[in-house]
Amino acid sequence: MGRVIAVTGKGGTGKTAVTAMILRDLINDSSKKTLRILAIDADPDANLADALGVKVSKTIGDMREFMQQSRYTTPPDTDKQVLFESKLFEILVEENAYDLLVMGKPEGSGCYCFVNNLLRGIMDKTISDYDLTLIDTPAGLEHFSRKTIPDLDALIVVTDESRRGLTTAERIRDMSKGLDMKYKELYVVVNKVTPERKEKVLETAKDLGLKVIGTVPYDQNLAKFDLVGDPLMNLPGDSPAVAETRQIVSKLGL
Ligand SMILES: Nc1ncnc2c1ncn2[C@@H]1O[C@H](COP(=O)(O)OP(=O)(O)O)[C@@H](O)[C@H]1O
Ligand SMILES: [Mg+2]
Repeated sequence: MGRVIAVTGKGGTGKTAVTAMILRDLINDSSKKTLRILAIDADPDANLADALGVKVSKTIGDMREFMQQSRYTTPPDTDKQVLFESKLFEILVEENAYDLLVMGKPEGSGCYCFVNNLLRGIMDKTISDYDLTLIDTPAGLEHFSRKTIPDLDALIVVTDESRRGLTTAERIRDMSKGLDMKYKELYVVVNKVTPERKEKVLETAKDLGLKVIGTVPYDQNLAKFDLVGDPLMNLPGDSPAVAETRQIVSKLGL
């Protein structure tokens, strides 16, 4: 079974940027060429694909709608599992060094239990084909409580310098117990850090009992790339945020 790592945190903290940079680091490391990697964009305001510079035409949301419709239109003896799996294969984007799945829009109204149950089974099976699955999740814990995200080896909570960002991490840790959300480790990445405030942020995190795995500096290059829509995959290696991501990847043991 491969490792599964999800990135979460409140909106705008840099979940997508951190996810993209972790992926960038892994695929630029020649010693990891054989690693089979699946990236999943689980945010309905999907933008991981943009950060990766990948064009996506179909999402799991579309597939879910198709399956929901097909409940009424396909012959009763159709093997839904097989049909769903073939659909998943259609929407999987195969890049050189990794594959990408985009969750897309959430389910519409009505009962999607049947389709979601199928989806869960298929996702688990798909993930087991990879050495590493890296998931960019939206803010909030709905995905986890609905179990549309598998059990995790590590949950990375991205926060900015604000106390609020850190208490989000604390809340996720505390709520996850009640949600029966399974992860082996919870790490915090403090993003867009300025040198003047770094010590204070680390101190606060320590007081809250949070394990900080990295402090990513505010990076003009990154901001500029996002401003004009250039993929973060193409960030130069000497960008400060890229250098720090190297440390994070290494601490993750990837
Ligand atoms: N280390 C960083 N340095 C500078 N700007 C950053 C950094 N990380 C993220 N940003 C900027 O912050 C904004 C939000 O980042 P994003 O990754 O989209 O957040 P999220 O996915 O959490 O909503 C983007 O405009 C991005 O360019
Ligand atoms: Mg995002």
